[in-house]
Amino acid sequence: MKLSIFGATGRMGQAVTRLAHEAKDIQIVGAISAPGDPSLGRDVGEVAGIGSIGVEVSADVDAGLMGADVVIEFSSTKAVPALFTACRKRGVAVVSGTTNFDADCRKALDELQAQVPVVWAPNMSRGVQVLAEVVEHAMRRLGADFDVEIVEVHHRRKVDSPSGTAVRLADAARKVRPDLSELRGRDGDVGARTKDEMAVFGVRGGDVIGDHTVHLLGDSERLELTHRATNRDLFARGAISAARFVLGKEPGLYTIADVLSS
Ligand SMILES: NC(=O)c1ccc[n+]([C@@H]2O[C@H](COP(=O)([O-])OP(=O)(O)OC[C@H]3O[C@@H](n4cnc5c(N)ncnc54)[C@H](OP(=O)(O)O)[C@@H]3O)[C@@H](O)[C@H]2O)c1
Repeated sequence: MKLSIFGATGRMGQAVTRLAHEAKDIQIVGAISAPGDPSLGRDVGEVAGIGSIGVEVSADVDAGLMGADVVIEFSSTKAVPALFTACRKRGVAVVSGTTNFDADCRKALDELQAQVPVVWAPNMSRGVQVLAEVVEHAMRRLGADFDVEIVEVHHRRKVDSPSGTAVRLADAARKVRPDLSELRGRDGDVGARTKDEMAVFGVRGGDVIGDHTVHLLGDSERLELTHRATNRDLFARGAISAARFVLGKEPGLYTIADVLSS
């Protein structure tokens, strides 16, 4: 598999570079970063701390996608629409991990998946997929008497809130309880909790990679269902598995659940 990495010098891009370079079935053919990134022109392996691998970091998207079967991207919502347009034109399959897509990203994703296969996942780990399934199961068994609240904790440099994973877990809860309306925290004289609300809280600090707890709160008992990521390699490994999965698939939008069931 010939792989291009978009957002190659970021925290996730470096992890993908390291793990993809170790994989015998993958050749890194492109490494793309933002115009103005001080690492432009450097070897992407050196940026990732594994020594030179003969691929320069470039801001030229078309050049970086040249010869690629698949691109893995962990970047920013501002960068995603242009990347997706370039992949659609070149027929490059996409594994997309950027979170909190806005309307422009969603439109670009719709257009992209009509022409190439795409895995889009706000969390690439198996554990979070299973957590979402467990939340659905628990809520069905516990019924509507249990209140649902979600707490996520991330490192101090995370720029978006709530995390894409928290949104993913809220979506899982709403599959069982479509009546739930989502609050982003609580502040001031908000009154007693109503049965149909579900608040999501974002805690920021330190170097926490990502913790998510879904609280199911009943009378006299409660469940706290938690996933903790302890290393970014977890998401990079998930993205690489998704890249292997998506290669050669029909155009369309695939999820981590599809990757796990393959
Ligand atoms: N799905 C998952 O499992 C998962 C896991 C972890 C993180 N994420 C998400 O992935 C995204 C990136 O996270 P991160 O921690 O790796 O952030 P990061 O360290 O800030 O990396 C993002 C990289 O994208 C680059 N970038 C920005 N604009 C670009 C452009 N126009 N073209 C090419 N590259 C561009 C940035 O370059 P500059 O710094 O020069 O701007 C930076 O190197 C976030 O949305 C995060 O929430 C998802």
